[in-house]
Amino acid sequence: MKMDGKTVLITGSTDGVGRYVATQLAVAGAKVLIHGRDSARAKTLSDEIKRAGGAEPVFYQADLSSLAETRKLADAVLADRRRLDVFISNAGIGSQNGGPGRQTSADGHELRFAVNYLAGFLLAHLLLPLLKASAPSRIVNVASLGQHPIDFDDVMITKGYSGGRAYAQSKLSQIMFTIDLADELRGSGVTVNSLHPATYMNTTMVRAGGITPMSTVEQGGDAILHLVSGDDVASKSGLFFNGMNEAKANPQAYDAAARKRLRALSLELTGLPAA
Ligand SMILES: NC(=O)c1ccc[n+]([C@@H]2O[C@H](COP(=O)([O-])OP(=O)(O)OC[C@H]3O[C@@H](n4cnc5c(N)ncnc54)[C@H](OP(=O)(O)O)[C@@H]3O)[C@@H](O)[C@H]2O)c1
Repeated sequence: MKMDGKTVLITGSTDGVGRYVATQLAVAGAKVLIHGRDSARAKTLSDEIKRAGGAEPVFYQADLSSLAETRKLADAVLADRRRLDVFISNAGIGSQNGGPGRQTSADGHELRFAVNYLAGFLLAHLLLPLLKASAPSRIVNVASLGQHPIDFDDVMITKGYSGGRAYAQSKLSQIMFTIDLADELRGSGVTVNSLHPATYMNTTMVRAGGITPMSTVEQGGDAILHLVSGDDVASKSGLFFNGMNEAKANPQAYDAAARKRLRALSLELTGLPAA
């Protein structure tokens, strides 16, 4: 897919791999809708994109730890845009951002589940009419190889909490959602795939975890860009990629009953109507 003239929303693009992807897409001619929490970081990115030869991006500010702010973000995009060719759900917090203790969102949900998964679930659903109207279009969920099965008796991890488990549960949730949404979107011209971009890229979340980086943001960013614009994946949907290659996720991802439970819970928590 040629990106010239395409409109792309990428959450969490004020830092890390999202920032690289936003810049590459803008330089390739896309209208890029950048998102983050901090307008100063957005201004820095906007200047960087213009210097690199891309069109000025449009900044949307929203804290995805609040479902109300997440809804406002979707509303703003729907009000401003007549088309949306790609939605990249990339914003996330690592296992240790904000310390090792359990944290909760504005809505009282476990924070990693809320920011890394629920916000993207809600955004994708709210943006679907525009994505469908712009078909062929794509959704890319930036997940991870770090995956932990969901304990449906304690999804908010009130017992035995660790940041690593919370992060990995949220990432598997994204992958399970991807498989379900692909089923729902069959025949609509909208594809949805998820990926592990690269292992321990040199980004804020990796550094916050005290981990020595092993990959560059360019490596992970290019894997994301592959799902955004690769012709070889144009008709693929519902898949998980490790970098450039199709891969298997944690077995719970292929458990239809578990996906159904997650979907019902997610619809309830986000206040979306049950289908
Ligand atoms: N780094 C890796 O090695 C690695 C490996 C596998 C998967 N991933 C995934 O790749 C994605 C990007 O990660 P990264 O490494 O680039 O991380 P990063 O450098 O820490 O950037 C995270 C981005 O998410 C945004 N964000 C965080 N919390 C938010 C919130 N509550 N509301 C709105 N935006 C929020 C940040 O915005 P602010 O600028 O406002 O902080 C930032 O733009 C994540 O989904 C991550 O799980 C990363």
